[in-house]
Amino acid sequence: MSLDELRKECLDCKNCKLCETRTNVVFGIGNPNAKILFIGEGPGENEDLQGQPFVGRGGMLLDKMLSVVDLSRDKNIYIANMVKCRPPKNRDPEEDEVSACRPWLNKQIELIDPKIIVCLGRVAAIRFIDPNFKVTKEHGQFIEKDGRLVMGTFHPAALLRNPNQKPAAMEDFFALQAKIKELCPETY
Ligand code: URA
Repeated sequence: MSLDELRKECLDCKNCKLCETRTNVVFGIGNPNAKILFIGEGPGENEDLQGQPFVGRGGMLLDKMLSVVDLSRDKNIYIANMVKCRPPKNRDPEEDEVSACRPWLNKQIELIDPKIIVCLGRVAAIRFIDPNFKVTKEHGQFIEKDGRLVMGTFHPAALLRNPNQKPAAMEDFFALQAKIKELCPETY
């Protein structure tokens, strides 16, 4: 199965209650052959309206930080979310919603087969790295899981709220760049 075939199936998903309030399923965007996968939390209002991840203010910040380390959703990375449909009023996705959506993400990971996964924020990091993951303490560390390296860093929305954390987040992106050059230089 290709990523496009998976997307088509996902667009009809009714596995949880978020399907009742969504405008669009936000499947993901980027290079299907990327070696780097970024995982956010879930669509917000703009993403729900446009059907694409990270297109609001947080997305603009994310794209800017990515460009500093020569990464781009148009070129060499893929971006997805823990849940593909917007939780009403941007609340955190609930456990049953994350569980219901997880098979889509698992299949995306299987098809893209990234070498490095970057968790944007706590919601992704507690599921991919450690249920007790603390972003402020453990950001930027690479951990091996199932043959891939996984790193957690600040969520762009958190950086908009706390701009004083931007330098620490940028350090994580530079560490990522170094890891890419070591493990998958074809990214550049
Ligand atoms: N926040 C996320 O976690 N994901 C998006 O796609 C947009 C905002």
